[in-house]
Order: sequence, then structure tokens, then C-alpha cells
Amino acid sequence: MPRPPMIARTLPALRRALDGLRARKATVALVPTMGALHDGHVSLVRLAQRRAGKVIVSIFVNPAQFAPTEDFGSYPRTWKGDVAKLTAAGVDLIWNPDVKTMYPDGFATQILTGGPATAGLEDRFRPQFFGGVTTVVGKLFTQTRPDFAFFGEKDFQQLKVVTRMARDLDLGVKVTGATTVRERDGLAMSSRNVYLSPEDRATAPVLYRAMKEAAKRLRAGDDMTAAMTDGAALITVAGFAVDYFEARHAESLAPVTSLKDGPVRLLVAARIGNTRLIDNIGV
Ligand code: PAF
Repeated sequence: MPRPPMIARTLPALRRALDGLRARKATVALVPTMGALHDGHVSLVRLAQRRAGKVIVSIFVNPAQFAPTEDFGSYPRTWKGDVAKLTAAGVDLIWNPDVKTMYPDGFATQILTGGPATAGLEDRFRPQFFGGVTTVVGKLFTQTRPDFAFFGEKDFQQLKVVTRMARDLDLGVKVTGATTVRERDGLAMSSRNVYLSPEDRATAPVLYRAMKEAAKRLRAGDDMTAAMTDGAALITVAGFAVDYFEARHAESLAPVTSLKDGPVRLLVAARIGNTRLIDNIGV
């Protein structure tokens, strides 16, 4: 039986646990999460374990990154299952602050980033999102002072934003993105997939299929605008309302018009029922 991870819920407890982890000068990796862990998160933990001596997973459903109309209240919370998964994975420490610990009374600071955070993708549809993400990730980095941090490529813009922030603020952490883990039918794993009705779950892999088809056409030399329009149409016909289906530069997230502007990443966000899904692939 693997040893259960230490669990810290207060800043003094976190500091004591970190002192213990670093006692033998071990390097430390952080995997920030909002819980409701799935195999994608476990793959981040495995990557972190290959890179660092000790691995911390934070579990904090961050109210600051949800708009009042979004799903903060109903976001899946699966603490027991999460601890079981992290125990099986051999994680060293779980950092699980409550909202008052993360945002004490009078908290009045926000980290606001430009560059990839204003690329006109997620920021166009969730204007509050990146301010909330960068503020909490900035805090998680200063609280745990990791050498490495791992984020899933599924939230591709978030990965770019956090990477930029860590560099710009000299936070001394190397941010690494990890390949999206998919269900057998291609749907990207996400904590929000549990919201999908059985019918919508059956439809959802069309996002990945449409991106793969568009990427194939681009590689064959097809016009980019046509490939994007057809990709969005395929998803719409399947029953999604499309927020965006776009080709962007894979590093800067700037718009591109041909593969010559590349490396190119295709990014999609679309809603079905009450669920909004995002996904992306490289071309
Ligand atoms: O991707 C997530 O789960 C969250 O946005 C993160 C990075 C843990 C910040 O709350």
C-alpha cells in the first residue's frame, strides 16, 4: 500500500511540510488542480515525478476564475476519490487551502497579464478567467516555491499565459505543458465532462474529429479560412454552438493565415447543452 500524501490546509502547515520535503535538497514540482481528478491529472503527476524529487498537487476550486453566471457552485468536488488517486500515484503533499486562506478578508490584489491572455480566444468569452487564473497560480507558486510546474495542454491558452507570467515575474519556476489525455473516442479528458448528458457525450468527440480533419486539409495545402469554416460547420451541425474554431501561432497565439506562419495550433471552444468544452491540437 503506498503511503498517503501529507495534506496541508493552512499556510503554517504548508511551510512545515515544505521544509520537510526540501530537507534533503530535493527539487519540488507542483501540479495545480481544481480537483475532480482524472487520468489527465495523473499523467501530469507522473511527468512531475520524472522531473522532480518531490511532487505537490494543489486542490483548490478557485472562485476568482469563475464569472457569477458560471459553475463555481456546481463544479465537481470529489475529495475522497482525489486523495485515493494521489495516494496510488505516490504524491508527496496535497495543498488544499480553503477560500479564506487563499483570499483572506481585505484581499485586494490581482495579477493581470497581457500577451497570450489577450489573444482573443478564451479571454473573449470568459473575460474574468485569466485574471483569476494568474492571481491564484501566482499565489500557488509563491506559496509552494516549486522548481517545476505542470499544466495540461488541453487549456492551451492558460498554459501560454502561465508560462509568460512565470517568466515575466521571475518566479523561478519552469512551466511545462503535457499532452492532452483523451478518452478512447478522442474526447479530451476534462473534469467538466461529467456534465454531459449521454446524448451530448456521444456527440462530443466531434470536436476532436473536426480538428483532425481541418489539420489534415491544411497539411494537404487547403485554404485555411475554408478549413476553419468547414470545421466550425461540422461541429455546429452535430449540435454545438461554436465560440471559436481557429488556427493560431502555437507560441504567440497570434492569428495565422497559412502554415507558413506556423507552428500552427488549432483551437476550439463550443457549447452543448449546459456544457462548454475546449480542445486543441497541433497541425
Ligand atoms: O486548469 C485548472 O485546473 C485551473 O485553471 C488552475 C490552473 C488549477 C488554476 O485554478
